Amino acid sequence: MTNSDAKVWLITGSSSGFGRSLVEAVLKHGDYVVATARKPEQLDDLAQQYPETIHPVRLDVTNLQDVQAAVESALDQYDHIDVLVNNAGYPAMGAIEELSDDDIRRQFETNFFGALSMIRAVLPTMREQRSGHILNISSFAGVVSLSGLGIYSATKFALEGASEALAQEVKPLGIKVTLIEPGAFRTNGAGSSMVTPKHPITDYAETSGKMIDVMRLSHGNQPGDPAKAAAAMIQVVESDDPPMRLALGEDSANGIVQKLDAMKAELEAWKPLSISTAFE
Ligand SMILES: NC(=O)c1ccc[n+]([C@@H]2O[C@H](COP(=O)([O-])OP(=O)(O)OC[C@H]3O[C@@H](n4cnc5c(N)ncnc54)[C@H](OP(=O)(O)O)[C@@H]3O)[C@@H](O)[C@H]2O)c1
Repeated sequence: MTNSDAKVWLITGSSSGFGRSLVEAVLKHGDYVVATARKPEQLDDLAQQYPETIHPVRLDVTNLQDVQAAVESALDQYDHIDVLVNNAGYPAMGAIEELSDDDIRRQFETNFFGALSMIRAVLPTMREQRSGHILNISSFAGVVSLSGLGIYSATKFALEGASEALAQEVKPLGIKVTLIEPGAFRTNGAGSSMVTPKHPITDYAETSGKMIDVMRLSHGNQPGDPAKAAAAMIQVVESDDPPMRLALGEDSANGIVQKLDAMKAELEAWKPLSISTAFE
């Protein structure tokens, strides 16, 4: 049972980065967390500090049995789920031709299908409650794709597409959906979590190769603070009128606006041809 004012959060990928920062911030905020991770023992320190309000659960988001079991365990523990945060994910970097089929499929299984499975597993509960908030951690790269980021971006674009429709489907049922679009934040994303091509192709050294170098060099020096990102996510959940999209970081906020401006200018420039295609 829970104290009635506090929310119950279910967070994926709680072992490090945004996930870990968010679990810490939510606990400090006084809410309850079903903190899921592939190795939940990585949350032992928090379980000792907050024995009543954290419920660590083992969850690999690519495993459907884990997904169902995690949701059941959350409901057994706290009766309801107010906020689902689909955070588990990593970047598979490389040119479209460079990454292996296996790396590409695994990237989609985690970043897109994993999040989709979680959403589909919590929706029956949120529909019954007629309340809930789903936060999908997308990326700047969920709106803007760059060389070397094609496959990662494709997973996040997919998440954005599904989220836009989902938001419309569940709004009448009292459920909110927000896409979080971070720029460069200091997590393990550009470190041990990043996947790169096993067989780089020299022809892509100046495009995708350079991007991978930039990512590697940024590791540990990214401007974004995951603790501040966590505070921003709590603010979104506490808001009466949360946004559909929240860019995090100046790089993301400016980069997305630049892309939208360029897209709009191109659409306007080609509009006569666009609208010339109807039957007379
Ligand atoms: N950092 C950035 O600059 C940035 C920018 C935009 C978007 N993002 C997004 O932010 C999210 C979190 O990444 P992060 O930057 O915080 O990196 P991180 O520190 O590497 O954390 C990634 C988390 O995802 C978990 N994970 C990976 N595969 C999983 C799976 N199959 N099942 C369950 N958990 C899994 C990892 O668990 P293990 O410890 O078990 O590996 C880890 O807890 C990702 O969706 C990422 O795409 C990050």
